[in-house]
Amino acid sequence: MKKNLIEVEGLKKYFDVGNGNVLKAVNDISFSIAEGETLGLVGESGCGKSTAGRTILRLYEPTAGSVKFNGVDISKLPPKQMKAMRRDMQMIFQDPYASLNPRFTVTDIIGEALDIHKMAGSRTERKRRVEELLDMVGLNPDHATRYPHEFSGGQRQRIGIARALAVNPKFIICDEPISALDVSIQAQVVNLLKDLQDRLGLTYLFIAHDLSMVKHISDRVAVMYLGRIVELAESEELYANPMHPYTKTLLSAIPIPDPEIEANKKRILLEDDANGPIQSAKDGASSGGAYNLENSELVEVSKGHWVSMPKK
Ligand SMILES: Nc1ncnc2c1ncn2[C@@H]1O[C@H](COP(=O)(O)OP(=O)(O)OP(=O)(O)O)[C@@H](O)[C@H]1O
Ligand SMILES: [Mg+2]
Repeated sequence: MKKNLIEVEGLKKYFDVGNGNVLKAVNDISFSIAEGETLGLVGESGCGKSTAGRTILRLYEPTAGSVKFNGVDISKLPPKQMKAMRRDMQMIFQDPYASLNPRFTVTDIIGEALDIHKMAGSRTERKRRVEELLDMVGLNPDHATRYPHEFSGGQRQRIGIARALAVNPKFIICDEPISALDVSIQAQVVNLLKDLQDRLGLTYLFIAHDLSMVKHISDRVAVMYLGRIVELAESEELYANPMHPYTKTLLSAIPIPDPEIEANKKRILLEDDANGPIQSAKDGASSGGAYNLENSELVEVSKGHWVSMPKK
């Protein structure tokens, strides 16, 4: 068994939204990611995926809970050690344009990451490393002096990937890295991320709002709903045997490339019956208590397949 690189335990991130109101954007999530593994994190817009990612990297201070990287609890590390740790943990963002400074050349964008961590000795060394990184992500090293607007969306995302790779990270959070791209380009970027993972032994948390996008890249998938994880299983298992009504909703939202089937497909609405599938998953052994998220816990219904159920 591979060891866990990431261990998230009881992580919460609440935002104070004024007038004494608190938004529980991430509400007690726990999972681990093994070295070299890709964990998909899916759920609809606003369910807390990006907040979870940012809190794991401590770009947001957690309200509660812990994150271990390689066995070290980073949630309490002092700033200096945290900075060193940041080298190992990088993030790729959804919008490849907004996340690149338009006034910087590609060399400066990638070089900045090297400078922050004092990883480029001389100017020549810096230039050579930038060219090497561009080559690694399938871009022409001769384009290093160009600006972001001179590239297509897919190429810009490759620049974002090169920037993340510059500091030799072990773990990368890919926050919807392909959502903003044309469908024809999405597969290329996913394949690039897969190749880089194989070559460099990277570990990924791959965020998406649509299950179809994470299917091919994820070993396991966690489904997030209103700040919580409601189901987690190996990809194949999750697709073949979804148990939580919300997972079924997400699956039913994947378009089927056959107009007739698609037209007749029944969408499962979450309000339909939030209890049925969950109760039956428990082999009828349930207490019969009504299911609500506040009073739920993840239960392992078969090996490695976790589903949110009413607390006993
Ligand atoms: N800095 C912040 N201050 C206050 N509320 C925030 C902040 N960041 C996020 N939120 C709120 O937290 C909730 C979760 O947001 P988040 O961006 O994590 O969702 P998401 O799952 O990444 O959505 P999307 O798929 O649209 O990217 C939302 O209600 C959002 O408005
Ligand atoms: Mg997001």
